[in-house]
Amino acid sequence: MAFNKVGITGANGVVGRVLLKGLGAEYQLKAFTRRPVDFPSAIVNFEKAAEVQGAFAGLEAVIHLAADPSPAASWEQVREHNLEGMYQVCEECVRSGVKRLVFASTNHTQHGNTIRTTPETLDPRKRLHMRLGDPPNPDSLYAVSKLFGENLGKLYQQRHGLEFVGLRIGWIVEADDPTIMRGTPAEDYLRAMFLSHRDCVEAHRRALEVKAEYLLAYVVSDNGRRVFDLEETARTLGFVSRDDAETYFARGK
Ligand SMILES: NC(=O)c1ccc[n+]([C@@H]2O[C@H](COP(=O)([O-])OP(=O)(O)OC[C@H]3O[C@@H](n4cnc5c(N)ncnc54)[C@H](O)[C@@H]3O)[C@@H](O)[C@H]2O)c1
Repeated sequence: MAFNKVGITGANGVVGRVLLKGLGAEYQLKAFTRRPVDFPSAIVNFEKAAEVQGAFAGLEAVIHLAADPSPAASWEQVREHNLEGMYQVCEECVRSGVKRLVFASTNHTQHGNTIRTTPETLDPRKRLHMRLGDPPNPDSLYAVSKLFGENLGKLYQQRHGLEFVGLRIGWIVEADDPTIMRGTPAEDYLRAMFLSHRDCVEAHRRALEVKAEYLLAYVVSDNGRRVFDLEETARTLGFVSRDDAETYFARGK
């Protein structure tokens, strides 16, 4: 095991709860939340420098999920939770000697290529297989904030040797079932971007285990309608997704 003591920020969110459950038996996890929740956690507002000081002492790796996850987020929300928060997290990783930062980036960094009307709609006629080397095409301030995070990670990797794995995550739904969007304007988008809970856990496990200095990866399930090329992710992250949104739709017919 590459790292054992792992912090998870935003641990009470949708992704955080999936990871606490999926990784808890293998790693010594330390949960961070903004408010007291229904499990033990350290309370830290990551946009507040004074609260972040010393928060990661003793940790070997951090999975940074805490952010405003909405593509509709305002500039103020993005600035506070995604930009300032990410900066404080990087600074604290260096101060506390954290070796690896796993960063929750997003498919929205490229979704400008496939958007239909709003960020949670997709034009199904656009049969793309985007690669990691393709230029970013953000669809929102949220997406731009995640590109900032990916690039801040690059700077901290080069300047401070902080290992960085940025996961451009698809769409994880609490129900773990993409058919919840059947018949809605978001159905085509979710059919392309769906990430099942078990694929999500496996991608984060690989992000902790893979040998890497700086790595970006697309993390979606093996969806028949996906718009991302997963070949590079399989090769560099060692993540091979097992689920496919189409299977759920076929089952529900
Ligand atoms: N859910 C998805 O499908 C998806 C897809 C792509 C990327 N992501 C990214 O994954 C991460 C987690 O997403 P989620 O769906 O679990 O979101 P969520 O909103 O359910 O959880 C995020 C958590 O972060 C906390 N948080 C926000 N700002 C904070 C701050 N400044 N200090 C401390 N805590 C703060 C919130 O209280 C919340 O509990 C986000 O960074 C999101 O952008 C999620």
